[in-house]
Amino acid sequence: MSLLRWPGLVDVHVHVREPGATHKEDWSTATAAALAGGFTAILAMPNTKPPVVNEASLNLALDAARRKAHADYAQYLGGTATNAAELPALARRAAGLKLYLSHTYGLLWLQDMSLWPALFRAWPKNRPLVVHAERHTLAAALFFARLYDRPLHIAHVAYREEILTIRAAKERGWPVTCEVTPHHLFLTAADVADRGGWGEVRPRLGTARDRDALWDNLAVCDVFATDHAPHTREEKSWPNPPPGFPGLETALPLLLTAVHQGRLTHDDLLLRLHANPRRIFDLPAQPDTWVEIDPAAEWTLPERGYFTRADWSPFAGWRVRGRVRRVTLRGRLAYDDGRVLVPSGYGHNLREA
Ligand code: DOR
Ligand code: ZN
Repeated sequence: MSLLRWPGLVDVHVHVREPGATHKEDWSTATAAALAGGFTAILAMPNTKPPVVNEASLNLALDAARRKAHADYAQYLGGTATNAAELPALARRAAGLKLYLSHTYGLLWLQDMSLWPALFRAWPKNRPLVVHAERHTLAAALFFARLYDRPLHIAHVAYREEILTIRAAKERGWPVTCEVTPHHLFLTAADVADRGGWGEVRPRLGTARDRDALWDNLAVCDVFATDHAPHTREEKSWPNPPPGFPGLETALPLLLTAVHQGRLTHDDLLLRLHANPRRIFDLPAQPDTWVEIDPAAEWTLPERGYFTRADWSPFAGWRVRGRVRRVTLRGRLAYDDGRVLVPSGYGHNLREA
Protein backbone atom coordinates (compact mmCIF):
# COMPACT_ATOMS: atom_id res chain seq x y z
CA MET A 1 0.00 0.00 0.00
CA SER A 2 1.60 3.26 -1.03
CA LEU A 3 1.03 6.19 1.24
CA LEU A 4 1.01 9.83 0.18
CA ARG A 5 3.42 12.02 2.08
CA TRP A 6 2.08 15.56 2.25
CA PRO A 7 3.22 18.69 4.06
CA GLY A 8 1.36 19.65 7.25
CA LEU A 9 -2.09 21.02 6.44
CA VAL A 10 -3.33 24.32 7.85
CA ASP A 11 -6.93 25.07 8.85
CA VAL A 12 -7.34 28.85 8.92
CA HIS A 13 -10.84 28.74 10.49
CA VAL A 14 -11.36 26.83 13.75
CA HIS A 15 -13.54 27.56 16.80
CA VAL A 16 -11.55 26.21 19.75
CA ARG A 17 -14.05 27.41 22.45
CA GLU A 18 -11.42 28.04 25.10
CA PRO A 19 -11.66 30.27 27.04
CA GLY A 20 -15.24 30.02 28.20
CA ALA A 21 -16.93 26.96 26.69
CA THR A 22 -14.62 24.02 27.31
CA HIS A 23 -17.62 21.70 27.63
CA LYS A 24 -17.84 22.04 23.82
CA GLU A 25 -14.09 21.94 23.03
CA ASP A 26 -10.75 23.09 24.42
CA TRP A 27 -7.23 23.59 23.13
CA SER A 28 -6.38 19.96 23.79
CA THR A 29 -9.38 18.35 22.07
CA ALA A 30 -9.41 20.83 19.16
CA THR A 31 -5.74 20.27 18.34
CA ALA A 32 -6.05 16.48 18.80
CA ALA A 33 -8.91 16.58 16.29
CA ALA A 34 -6.72 18.71 14.01
CA LEU A 35 -3.89 16.15 14.02
CA ALA A 36 -6.35 13.31 13.40
CA GLY A 37 -7.57 15.28 10.39
CA GLY A 38 -4.08 15.92 8.99
CA PHE A 39 -3.89 19.55 10.17
CA THR A 40 -0.63 20.46 11.87
CA ALA A 41 -1.67 24.08 12.41
CA ILE A 42 -4.95 25.82 13.16
CA LEU A 43 -5.96 29.47 13.35
CA ALA A 44 -8.41 29.99 16.24
CA MET A 45 -11.41 32.31 15.96
CA PRO A 46 -12.01 35.02 18.59
CA ASN A 47 -15.72 34.50 19.43
CA THR A 48 -14.91 32.85 22.74
CA LYS A 49 -16.05 33.81 26.27
CA PRO A 50 -14.67 36.34 26.86
CA PRO A 51 -14.09 37.19 23.23
CA VAL A 52 -10.47 37.77 22.24
CA VAL A 53 -10.52 41.51 21.65
CA ASN A 54 -7.67 43.05 23.67
CA GLU A 55 -4.36 42.25 25.32
CA ALA A 56 -5.83 40.61 28.44
CA SER A 57 -8.15 38.26 26.54
CA LEU A 58 -5.46 37.48 23.95
CA ASN A 59 -3.13 36.50 26.79
CA LEU A 60 -5.88 34.37 28.34
CA ALA A 61 -6.44 32.40 25.13
CA LEU A 62 -2.74 32.09 24.34
CA ASP A 63 -1.94 30.91 27.86
CA ALA A 64 -4.45 28.06 27.53
CA ALA A 65 -3.10 27.27 24.07
CA ARG A 66 0.50 27.19 25.30
CA ARG A 67 -0.38 24.76 28.07
CA LYS A 68 -2.75 22.51 26.13
CA ALA A 69 -2.24 22.52 22.37
CA HIS A 70 -0.93 19.34 20.70
CA ALA A 71 -0.55 21.04 17.32
CA ASP A 72 0.69 24.45 16.20
CA TYR A 73 -1.64 27.42 16.24
CA ALA A 74 -2.28 31.13 16.11
CA GLN A 75 -5.13 33.12 17.66
CA TYR A 76 -7.30 35.75 15.92
CA LEU A 77 -8.42 39.00 17.46
CA GLY A 78 -12.00 40.21 16.97
CA GLY A 79 -13.00 43.76 16.10
CA THR A 80 -15.49 45.55 18.35
CA ALA A 81 -17.20 48.94 18.54
CA THR A 82 -14.45 50.22 20.81
CA ASN A 83 -11.16 48.37 20.26
CA ALA A 84 -9.79 49.76 16.98
CA ALA A 85 -7.14 51.86 18.73
CA GLU A 86 -5.71 48.92 20.71
CA LEU A 87 -5.43 46.53 17.78
CA PRO A 88 -2.31 47.68 15.92
CA ALA A 89 -0.04 47.03 18.92
CA LEU A 90 -1.33 43.43 19.11
CA ALA A 91 -1.27 42.70 15.38
CA ARG A 92 2.00 40.81 15.25
CA ARG A 93 0.87 38.44 18.01
CA ALA A 94 -2.40 37.55 16.27
CA ALA A 95 -3.31 35.24 13.40
CA GLY A 96 -5.25 38.17 11.99
CA LEU A 97 -8.26 40.37 12.69
CA LYS A 98 -11.73 38.85 12.30
CA LEU A 99 -14.70 41.10 11.70
CA TYR A 100 -18.19 39.69 12.14
CA LEU A 101 -20.11 41.86 9.68
CA SER A 102 -22.98 39.36 9.45
CA HIS A 103 -24.83 37.95 12.42
CA THR A 104 -23.72 34.64 13.94
CA TYR A 105 -22.86 32.84 17.20
CA GLY A 106 -21.13 35.00 19.84
CA LEU A 107 -21.04 38.64 20.80
CA LEU A 108 -18.92 40.19 18.07
CA TRP A 109 -21.53 41.26 15.50
CA LEU A 110 -20.71 44.69 14.04
CA GLN A 111 -24.24 45.40 12.97
CA ASP A 112 -23.74 49.15 12.53
CA MET A 113 -21.74 49.77 9.36
CA SER A 114 -20.47 53.07 10.75
CA LEU A 115 -18.25 50.97 13.06
CA TRP A 116 -16.35 49.46 10.16
CA PRO A 117 -14.10 52.26 8.89
CA ALA A 118 -12.13 52.61 12.14
CA LEU A 119 -11.39 48.87 12.09
CA PHE A 120 -10.52 48.70 8.39
CA ARG A 121 -8.17 51.67 8.86
CA ALA A 122 -6.56 50.58 12.12
CA TRP A 123 -5.53 47.05 11.20
CA PRO A 124 -2.11 46.98 9.46
CA LYS A 125 -2.43 46.43 5.73
CA ASN A 126 0.16 43.66 5.77
CA ARG A 127 -1.63 41.60 8.45
CA PRO A 128 -4.57 39.29 7.58
CA LEU A 129 -8.05 40.82 7.73
CA VAL A 130 -10.87 38.24 7.62
CA VAL A 131 -14.58 38.97 7.39
CA HIS A 132 -17.73 36.99 7.97
CA ALA A 133 -19.84 38.82 5.41
CA GLU A 134 -22.80 37.14 3.75
CA ARG A 135 -24.61 38.10 0.53
CA HIS A 136 -25.05 41.91 0.20
CA THR A 137 -22.80 42.39 3.23
CA LEU A 138 -19.96 40.81 1.28
CA ALA A 139 -20.25 43.54 -1.36
CA ALA A 140 -20.16 46.14 1.42
CA ALA A 141 -17.00 44.55 2.88
CA LEU A 142 -15.31 44.59 -0.53
CA PHE A 143 -16.25 48.24 -0.89
CA PHE A 144 -14.56 49.13 2.41
CA ALA A 145 -11.45 47.10 1.56
CA ARG A 146 -11.27 49.05 -1.68
CA LEU A 147 -11.96 52.37 0.02
CA TYR A 148 -9.14 51.82 2.49
CA ASP A 149 -6.96 50.14 -0.13
CA ARG A 150 -6.18 46.92 1.65
CA PRO A 151 -6.27 43.11 1.11
CA LEU A 152 -9.26 41.17 2.44
CA HIS A 153 -9.95 37.49 3.08
CA ILE A 154 -13.58 36.35 2.91
CA ALA A 155 -14.49 33.49 5.26
CA HIS A 156 -16.77 30.59 4.26
CA VAL A 157 -18.16 31.65 0.88
CA ALA A 158 -21.49 29.85 0.63
CA TYR A 159 -23.70 31.29 -2.12
CA ARG A 160 -23.58 31.75 -5.87
CA GLU A 161 -23.93 35.52 -5.62
CA GLU A 162 -20.92 35.61 -3.28
CA ILE A 163 -18.51 33.58 -5.38
CA LEU A 164 -19.53 35.54 -8.50
CA THR A 165 -18.93 38.84 -6.69
CA ILE A 166 -15.49 37.68 -5.54
CA ARG A 167 -14.71 36.47 -9.05
CA ALA A 168 -15.57 39.89 -10.45
CA ALA A 169 -13.37 41.59 -7.84
CA LYS A 170 -10.47 39.27 -8.67
CA GLU A 171 -10.92 39.89 -12.39
CA ARG A 172 -10.44 43.58 -11.59
CA GLY A 173 -7.21 42.71 -9.78
CA TRP A 174 -8.49 43.54 -6.31
CA PRO A 175 -6.44 41.87 -3.55
CA VAL A 176 -9.20 39.60 -2.26
CA THR A 177 -8.93 35.95 -1.23
CA CYS A 178 -11.54 33.54 0.06
CA GLU A 179 -12.20 30.17 1.62
CA VAL A 180 -14.94 27.57 1.25
CA THR A 181 -15.90 24.87 3.73
CA PRO A 182 -16.47 21.18 3.01
CA HIS A 183 -20.05 21.50 4.29
CA HIS A 184 -20.91 24.16 1.74
CA LEU A 185 -19.26 22.06 -0.99
CA PHE A 186 -20.91 18.77 -0.06
CA LEU A 187 -24.27 19.64 1.57
CA THR A 188 -27.34 21.69 0.69
CA ALA A 189 -30.23 22.96 2.81
CA ALA A 190 -32.37 20.16 1.40
CA ASP A 191 -29.93 17.57 2.78
CA VAL A 192 -30.51 18.77 6.37
CA ALA A 193 -34.14 19.87 6.08
CA ASP A 194 -35.29 17.17 8.49
CA ARG A 195 -32.47 17.53 11.02
CA GLY A 196 -33.68 20.50 13.05
CA GLY A 197 -30.89 22.13 15.04
CA TRP A 198 -28.37 19.62 13.76
CA GLY A 199 -28.56 21.30 10.37
CA GLU A 200 -28.08 24.83 11.73
CA VAL A 201 -24.89 26.51 10.58
CA ARG A 202 -23.83 30.02 9.53
CA PRO A 203 -23.72 30.76 6.71
CA ARG A 204 -26.74 28.52 6.24
CA LEU A 205 -26.39 25.75 3.71
CA GLY A 206 -27.40 26.90 0.24
CA THR A 207 -29.31 25.43 -2.66
CA ALA A 208 -27.92 22.93 -5.14
CA ARG A 209 -27.34 25.92 -7.43
CA ASP A 210 -25.23 27.64 -4.76
CA ARG A 211 -23.23 24.49 -4.15
CA ASP A 212 -22.69 23.92 -7.87
CA ALA A 213 -21.54 27.54 -8.30
CA LEU A 214 -18.79 26.90 -5.72
CA TRP A 215 -17.63 23.84 -7.67
CA ASP A 216 -17.87 25.67 -11.01
CA ASN A 217 -15.74 28.50 -9.62
CA LEU A 218 -13.18 26.48 -7.73
CA ALA A 219 -10.44 28.53 -9.36
CA VAL A 220 -11.79 31.52 -7.37
CA CYS A 221 -11.54 29.62 -4.03
CA ASP A 222 -8.09 30.09 -2.52
CA VAL A 223 -8.48 28.01 0.63
CA PHE A 224 -10.43 25.07 2.03
CA ALA A 225 -11.20 25.78 5.69
CA THR A 226 -13.43 23.77 8.00
CA ASP A 227 -15.11 26.46 10.13
CA HIS A 228 -14.95 23.70 12.78
CA ALA A 229 -17.68 24.94 15.16
CA PRO A 230 -18.28 22.37 17.88
CA HIS A 231 -21.47 22.40 19.98
CA THR A 232 -22.58 19.46 22.09
CA ARG A 233 -25.27 16.96 21.11
CA GLU A 234 -27.45 18.33 23.88
CA GLU A 235 -27.09 21.92 22.64
CA LYS A 236 -27.88 20.91 19.06
CA SER A 237 -31.13 19.38 20.35
CA TRP A 238 -32.35 22.57 22.04
CA PRO A 239 -35.23 24.63 20.64
CA ASN A 240 -32.83 27.46 19.75
CA PRO A 241 -29.75 25.47 18.80
CA PRO A 242 -26.40 27.19 18.30
CA PRO A 243 -25.20 27.06 14.68
CA GLY A 244 -22.13 25.13 13.63
CA PHE A 245 -20.67 21.81 12.55
CA PRO A 246 -17.48 20.08 13.70
CA GLY A 247 -15.24 19.59 10.68
CA LEU A 248 -11.57 18.99 11.48
CA GLU A 249 -11.69 15.19 11.28
CA THR A 250 -13.89 14.85 8.21
CA ALA A 251 -12.58 17.55 5.83
CA LEU A 252 -9.65 15.67 4.35
CA PRO A 253 -11.45 12.33 3.84
CA LEU A 254 -14.32 14.18 2.11
CA LEU A 255 -11.96 16.13 -0.14
CA LEU A 256 -9.88 13.01 -0.92
CA THR A 257 -13.10 11.24 -1.85
CA ALA A 258 -13.78 14.04 -4.33
CA VAL A 259 -10.30 13.41 -5.75
CA HIS A 260 -11.12 9.72 -6.06
CA GLN A 261 -14.29 10.71 -7.95
CA GLY A 262 -12.30 12.89 -10.33
CA ARG A 263 -13.83 16.16 -9.10
CA LEU A 264 -10.56 17.53 -7.64
CA THR A 265 -6.85 16.79 -7.93
CA HIS A 266 -4.26 16.28 -5.23
CA ASP A 267 -2.67 19.55 -6.35
CA ASP A 268 -6.02 21.34 -5.82
CA LEU A 269 -5.95 20.14 -2.22
CA LEU A 270 -2.30 20.89 -1.51
CA LEU A 271 -2.72 24.41 -2.84
CA ARG A 272 -5.80 25.13 -0.70
CA LEU A 273 -4.85 23.28 2.48
CA HIS A 274 -1.16 24.15 2.64
CA ALA A 275 0.42 26.58 0.18
CA ASN A 276 -2.31 29.23 0.02
CA PRO A 277 -3.05 29.29 3.78
CA ARG A 278 0.65 29.78 4.45
CA ARG A 279 0.98 32.54 1.87
CA ILE A 280 -2.23 34.43 2.67
CA PHE A 281 -1.73 34.25 6.44
CA ASP A 282 2.04 34.71 6.34
CA LEU A 283 2.72 31.54 8.34
CA PRO A 284 6.23 30.14 8.91
CA ALA A 285 7.24 26.75 7.57
CA GLN A 286 6.87 23.86 10.00
CA PRO A 287 10.21 22.04 9.70
CA ASP A 288 10.31 18.22 9.58
CA THR A 289 6.52 18.12 9.40
CA TRP A 290 4.47 15.83 7.15
CA VAL A 291 1.25 13.85 6.93
CA GLU A 292 1.04 10.26 5.69
CA ILE A 293 -2.23 9.46 3.97
CA ASP A 294 -3.64 6.21 2.65
CA PRO A 295 -5.59 7.43 -0.40
CA ALA A 296 -7.16 4.01 -1.02
CA ALA A 297 -8.53 3.34 2.48
CA GLU A 298 -12.30 3.08 2.25
CA TRP A 299 -14.24 3.68 5.44
CA THR A 300 -17.45 5.11 6.89
CA LEU A 301 -17.39 8.37 8.85
CA PRO A 302 -18.63 7.32 12.28
CA GLU A 303 -21.44 8.64 14.47
CA ARG A 304 -19.10 8.89 17.46
CA GLY A 305 -15.51 8.35 18.45
CA TYR A 306 -14.03 11.65 17.25
CA PHE A 307 -11.39 13.60 19.12
CA THR A 308 -13.55 16.73 19.07
CA ARG A 309 -15.48 16.99 22.31
CA ALA A 310 -18.64 17.64 20.29
CA ASP A 311 -18.19 14.08 19.00
CA TRP A 312 -20.66 14.14 16.13
CA SER A 313 -20.58 14.95 12.44
CA PRO A 314 -23.13 16.04 9.85
CA PHE A 315 -21.35 13.55 7.57
CA ALA A 316 -21.72 10.51 9.84
CA GLY A 317 -22.52 7.46 7.74
CA TRP A 318 -20.84 8.83 4.59
CA ARG A 319 -18.64 6.35 2.78
CA VAL A 320 -15.26 8.00 2.10
CA ARG A 321 -11.91 7.16 0.50
CA GLY A 322 -8.68 8.35 2.07
CA ARG A 323 -7.46 8.27 5.63
CA VAL A 324 -4.77 10.00 7.67
CA ARG A 325 -2.39 7.34 8.99
CA ARG A 326 0.44 9.28 10.63
CA VAL A 327 1.38 12.88 11.32
CA THR A 328 4.93 13.97 12.08
CA LEU A 329 5.17 17.44 13.61
CA ARG A 330 8.57 19.08 14.00
CA GLY A 331 10.37 15.77 13.92
CA ARG A 332 8.10 13.90 16.32
CA LEU A 333 5.47 11.31 15.50
CA ALA A 334 2.41 13.23 16.70
CA TYR A 335 -0.43 11.02 15.47
CA ASP A 336 -0.46 7.34 14.57
CA ASP A 337 -3.61 5.51 13.47
CA GLY A 338 -6.07 6.87 16.00
CA ARG A 339 -3.63 7.85 18.74
CA VAL A 340 -2.26 11.32 19.53
CA LEU A 341 1.32 10.81 20.68
CA VAL A 342 2.53 14.30 21.56
CA PRO A 343 1.52 15.83 24.90
CA SER A 344 -0.53 18.90 25.63
CA GLY A 345 1.84 21.84 25.34
CA TYR A 346 3.77 20.44 22.37
CA GLY A 347 2.09 22.92 20.00
CA HIS A 348 3.89 26.13 19.07
CA ASN A 349 2.41 29.56 18.65
CA LEU A 350 3.16 30.31 14.98
CA ARG A 351 3.21 34.04 15.74
CA GLU A 352 6.09 33.54 18.18
CA ALA A 353 8.17 31.27 15.98
O1 DOR B 1 -22.09 28.04 12.20
C1 DOR B 1 -21.32 28.83 12.73
N1 DOR B 1 -20.85 28.61 13.96
N2 DOR B 1 -20.97 29.95 12.06
C2 DOR B 1 -20.29 30.93 12.67
O2 DOR B 1 -20.05 31.93 12.03
C3 DOR B 1 -19.86 30.81 14.08
C4 DOR B 1 -19.77 29.41 14.47
C5 DOR B 1 -19.67 29.20 15.96
O3 DOR B 1 -18.85 29.87 16.60
O4 DOR B 1 -20.35 28.33 16.48
ZN1 ZN C 1 -16.50 30.44 12.04
